[in-house]
Amino acid sequence: MDWGMKNRLSKIIKPKDGHTVMLAVDHGYFMGPTTGLENIKTMVDPLLRYADTLMLTRGALRNYIDPHTTIPIVLRVSGGTSILNESNLLHEGTVVDIEDAIRLNVSGVAFSILVGQPHERDTILGMTEYIDKANRYGIPVLAVTAVGKGLGKDVRYLSLASRMAAELGASIVKTYFCKDFEKIVETCPVPIVIAGGKKQPEQDALNMAYDAIHAGAVGVDMGRNIFQSSNPVGMMKAVNAIVHKKHTPKEAYALFTSTKK
Ligand code: 5RP
Repeated sequence: MDWGMKNRLSKIIKPKDGHTVMLAVDHGYFMGPTTGLENIKTMVDPLLRYADTLMLTRGALRNYIDPHTTIPIVLRVSGGTSILNESNLLHEGTVVDIEDAIRLNVSGVAFSILVGQPHERDTILGMTEYIDKANRYGIPVLAVTAVGKGLGKDVRYLSLASRMAAELGASIVKTYFCKDFEKIVETCPVPIVIAGGKKQPEQDALNMAYDAIHAGAVGVDMGRNIFQSSNPVGMMKAVNAIVHKKHTPKEAYALFTSTKK
């Protein structure tokens, strides 16, 4: 693997323990001003010290994040549909040219694929075209296995989508946690991070992060379960403690409740 690619990957997945806490605040690209992200700067600034990587759109990066930041950036580069267009939801294509990603000095880019839906071919070819471009510059592509309507978030589906993403050239796969998650990890040759999904009670989200790490995920790429929490800083610290400090969910929850709002 090229030096630049290795160097960028080491900014996303920390070489000290092979784990990562990615903070996902890219939701605006199809959801607009999601609850908790009305002002990304105000939400994200106090969270950054507990995150290894920040995943967001180019507009959010340019408008809300201080260019002097040291946090490595994973830039969302796919999109094109909104939550208002249900029949085409997640029928995504490229929305950021590789040149702009380079100009923004990103450590990685994220592209969603929609396996098993009518538009799967478009999203998969969109991702592979982006991978070819990103490879030229040593930029890793994180594939997001989006789940369309009617497709269950189960091990059969998610291992198919994750393995496909890896075989097609993704450097990291972001998928959902599910029962028998270790089977997804065992059959996917690249590192896996889990998405948080819809907001759940904090204890449940911490249990999920713990179970995912113990089943072999290298980390989490979590959004709503952090920024929609009653105490985002506490939640960020708790997730970080599970991923990097071997905290149990109980210890992490105690950290969450003892953190000042
Ligand atoms: C959609 C995405 C997201 O926009 C986001 O990153 C998901 O994060 P979370 O589910 O934890 O809120 O990847 O496919």
